[in-house]
Amino acid sequence: MTVGTALVTGASRGIGRQVALALASEGWRVLSGVRDPESAPSGTQAEVVDMADPVSIAALARRLRVRNERLDALVNNAGVYDGPARRIWDVNVLGPLRLTRALAPLLARNARVVMVTSSLGQLSAQPASLVKRLSNPQLSLTELERLAEEAPGGYGASKAALNAMARLFAKEFKPRGILVNAISPGWVRTDMGGPGAPRSVEQGAASVLWGVRLPPGGPTGGVFEDGKAID
Ligand SMILES: NC(=O)c1ccc[n+]([C@@H]2O[C@H](COP(=O)([O-])OP(=O)(O)OC[C@H]3O[C@@H](n4cnc5c(N)ncnc54)[C@H](OP(=O)(O)O)[C@@H]3O)[C@@H](O)[C@H]2O)c1
Repeated sequence: MTVGTALVTGASRGIGRQVALALASEGWRVLSGVRDPESAPSGTQAEVVDMADPVSIAALARRLRVRNERLDALVNNAGVYDGPARRIWDVNVLGPLRLTRALAPLLARNARVVMVTSSLGQLSAQPASLVKRLSNPQLSLTELERLAEEAPGGYGASKAALNAMARLFAKEFKPRGILVNAISPGWVRTDMGGPGAPRSVEQGAASVLWGVRLPPGGPTGGVFEDGKAID
């Protein structure tokens, strides 16, 4: 018997791969969002998606809709640290926004959505102009999308925007019992984190998995690491 169906983006390597493998080993049916279908971890199903490409995201959503998929968990994990700001905001912010929006009708009642964030996204560490826009009580997903089109900053700023996105989707999905949180894995030894990082991939994945395993009525709209609020 499957526990549920989960879609994990960036499942080819690093934290996403570990999250996908852990869920599959617990009996979840795991859809691995990957750019190269050969890179999906064994025991999971490859779903090709390029998170920087709106056409690719729409195509994935259409395929899942046609198959009548219902998602019990969505882990927006794919991310980039380096490169042009435009690319960082496309993958780290617009990708999760477009994918979560496109998959909203497929999310099961009481589903869990995790946005994989970073402690570098802490609001207090961002420039005042960005803090003002992200903490505006009138902020909407449309406004956040507009902000992301400007790509105002680098990695940390993109994760601050992702945290705000988790809060906005949490509000939108609350009537359906869907819990949406931004979760930091800590500094982890992956291609992104480098070999000198203090945490193993398993530790990073455990922090993220906490958001998938939340009990009904658990926290929503927050930013967490290892189950503790961090922002
Ligand atoms: N490692 C850390 O210390 C750390 C700390 C805080 C937060 N995080 C966050 O944790 C998440 C995973 O990081 P990681 O350390 O596991 O990174 P990683 O080892 O560099 O892996 C990145 C993953 O994202 C995927 N990806 C990148 N661009 C993509 C695109 N355009 N479309 C689809 N997938 C794409 C990669 O797929 P390909 O194999 O196809 O490139 C890969 O699966 C990221 O959101 C990152 O910001 C990491």
